[in-house]
Amino acid sequence: MASHASRYCRLLDRHWTVTPFRKLFVQRSNGNSQRPYSSATYKENQLELGHPTLASTNFAASTKTRSKQERLKDHSLPFSAFLTDNFGRRHSYLRISLTEKCNLRCQYCMPEEGVKLTPRGQLLSTSEILTLARLFVQEGVDKIRLTGGEPLIRPDVLDIIAELRKLEGLKTIAVTTNGINLARLLPKLKDAGLDLINISLDSLVPAKFEFIVRRKGFHKVMEGIDKAVEMGYNPVKVNCVVMRGLNEDELLDFVALTEKKPLEVRFIEYMPFDGNKWNFKKMVSYQEMLDRIRQHWSNVERLQTGQTDTAKIFQVPGFKGQVGFITSMSDHFCGSCNRLRITADGSLKVCLFGNSEVSLRDVLRSGASDEELLQIIGAAVGRKKKQHAGMFSISQMKNRPMILIGG
Ligand SMILES: C[S@@+](CC[C@H](N)C(=O)[O-])C[C@H]1O[C@@H](n2cnc3c(N)ncnc32)[C@H](O)[C@@H]1O
Ligand code: SF4
Repeated sequence: MASHASRYCRLLDRHWTVTPFRKLFVQRSNGNSQRPYSSATYKENQLELGHPTLASTNFAASTKTRSKQERLKDHSLPFSAFLTDNFGRRHSYLRISLTEKCNLRCQYCMPEEGVKLTPRGQLLSTSEILTLARLFVQEGVDKIRLTGGEPLIRPDVLDIIAELRKLEGLKTIAVTTNGINLARLLPKLKDAGLDLINISLDSLVPAKFEFIVRRKGFHKVMEGIDKAVEMGYNPVKVNCVVMRGLNEDELLDFVALTEKKPLEVRFIEYMPFDGNKWNFKKMVSYQEMLDRIRQHWSNVERLQTGQTDTAKIFQVPGFKGQVGFITSMSDHFCGSCNRLRITADGSLKVCLFGNSEVSLRDVLRSGASDEELLQIIGAAVGRKKKQHAGMFSISQMKNRPMILIGG
């Protein structure tokens, strides 16, 4: 009987001419690892390499290709063709979900009835996570965020961070956490190499916090935030999902937190996911939040941010910290999106709000080579849409609950 790997290769060969791609790679086995630097997209590489189907593409398409290549030349650093999509977006930021489990039950994230957990054997193992991380970093990913579920309940989270730290080219290792275990773990996380922390906190009123997250733990989260500040993380990012009738009345209190502490409070527009009972009326838009803040601090000013930063950042003059808005619903930032996600069960999601997925776990377990994995990844990135479908369509669409994606 043919092995999974050989069956898989035959399947690939039927659809793609793999060999020309292999020529792009310097053999990794000789320790001279190098990625196929290219300013072209996956499809453009195939054209250049004379792919049998795409090479016959008409002149109009090749003119389009040239102009895209010229646009991409503007950037000084070359970037992997596999991680560049058809709109020129370079995906240098990978989010990896470490677990589907959580020690909280936030209303906006975890469906009331809970979620069906993936059997353990179908979740990515530590070595699979590291194999994928290495591959993405070789291709140009320079930032990895660990998320979940709650990443800090994964027993080997410290080992994972320490191993990631060894990856040449990976500049930033970040974690998004609910903060419950943070104060206890932070010294070790820092030693392992953690650079950035986002801590979720939706209310400054303990009873309301417990209502929203359906569990106790407010003081532990506050302790985690203080510990992060004390240990020199700057800014410490605090994620707050704003929901009408629940915590919108605390906007000013959250901004006031930034007066003395080097926090970046990030107000996140409430997003629809399966099972979270999203509705438009519960969503408080960026503009509404900003108007309310301006009524109190009329001098709040917008700060410059990097090209791929998703948050719109503001500061009240004289305050130590800042506030940010994640406006995925009212003013999407798809045009500058540089993120890819891998779920705990090993699926690659090229868009948070898209339901198309490809199981990298299955490809890995079939014994595929790095090159073959890259073909699959490149094809998925190539299918990424220009932008999400809009909040009303998203709310009608089947997607995973957020807890099974990893925000
Ligand atoms: C899914 S959680 C995982 C990491 C960790 N457990 C935490 O809570 O920070 C990642 C982020 O997604 C955000 N999030 C979850 N559901 C959301 C929703 N429906 N709308 C907006 N943000 C959401 C959370 O507030 C959190 O900051
Ligand atoms: S937002 Fe984070 S803490 Fe809350 S249920 Fe989701 S994964 Fe857990």
